[in-house]
Amino acid sequence: MIEFKNVTKRYGSKTAVEDASFNVKEGEFFVLIGPSGSGKTTTLKMINRLIPLTEGYIYFKDKPVSDYEVYEMRWDIGYVLQQIALFPHMTIAENIAQVPQMKKWKEADIDKRTAELMTMVGLDPDTYKNRKPAELSGGQQQRVGVIRALAADPPVILMDEPFSALDPITRESLQDDLIKLQREIKKTIVFVTHDIKEAMKLGDRICLFNEGQIEQIGSPDEFLSTPKNDFVKEFIGYQQKERVTVGEFVSENSQGVNNEDYPLVEEETKIEDAFKVFAEHETVAVKTKDGNKLLNRQDVFKHLSAKRGDSA
Ligand SMILES: Nc1ncnc2c1ncn2[C@@H]1O[C@H](COP(=O)(O)OP(=O)(O)OP(=O)(O)O)[C@@H](O)[C@H]1O
Ligand SMILES: [Mg+2]
Repeated sequence: MIEFKNVTKRYGSKTAVEDASFNVKEGEFFVLIGPSGSGKTTTLKMINRLIPLTEGYIYFKDKPVSDYEVYEMRWDIGYVLQQIALFPHMTIAENIAQVPQMKKWKEADIDKRTAELMTMVGLDPDTYKNRKPAELSGGQQQRVGVIRALAADPPVILMDEPFSALDPITRESLQDDLIKLQREIKKTIVFVTHDIKEAMKLGDRICLFNEGQIEQIGSPDEFLSTPKNDFVKEFIGYQQKERVTVGEFVSENSQGVNNEDYPLVEEETKIEDAFKVFAEHETVAVKTKDGNKLLNRQDVFKHLSAKRGDSA
């Protein structure tokens, strides 16, 4: 669906993205992650031609993006900006209706779609549709930014840290909505985030950037089980630090074990340290006050991405 071939982007002498190659499949949820300034937004914006590339090729549906008119891209590719950018003089409903109107949808269909999407993200249409963006909270505006990108039902959606300004509860529920949506209507989504937990929960595959270069591309499972280098390990580990220990994955029902067939891990071991053991062992034994309990790498992974439900 979207293919990068040796893509480089320079701003003057500064290389923002260097020799990036990857392929986003139709219906895939593809996550771009990495530290601030690593090239995520630049990569995303090159897809819909908001930023021209310096070297290499980007194909959209097997055609170089340079062969498309910019407006064609806007029809086919929904885009959620990193900074909320609703039109301040328009109402919420008018903001959402932008692309459907360009596509000459019927008014009644636009109204129906607008109400449906607003309800989906917990904004009562009757209360909010005629307000101006300034009359909404930051989080509410961000939700409008998200549904605006979905309004005309584009096959591809680019999202740049769309949930970063939201409180944890709204964030979780929007993540869940997005997973549901993607599973039901098989959108192709390229999603930028800083947050490894969000990436693990949402991504079919994750692409980790570091200073403009891709360090690793793979499924959440592959990141956890076989991180390619120290940067990857640290990136996964750093963000989990102090929050998750191995003990949290062991329940009362976990199978007990007494022999020495499995490497023994302390209950308080941080999960990123445990991944080093999991990289070589499918199953470990966790030492708990109730004895040693078995823990599978797969179970840890499933737990971390629990919200993905059956599609993991
Ligand atoms: N218009 C520009 N002119 C010059 N340099 C730029 C420009 N836009 C981005 N850069 C530089 O390119 C690099 C990549 O920027 P980019 O915005 O893609 O990073 P990012 O990964 O999205 O970061 P963040 O997580 O902070 O949003 C950074 O070093 C940035 O300073
Ligand atoms: Mg960015």
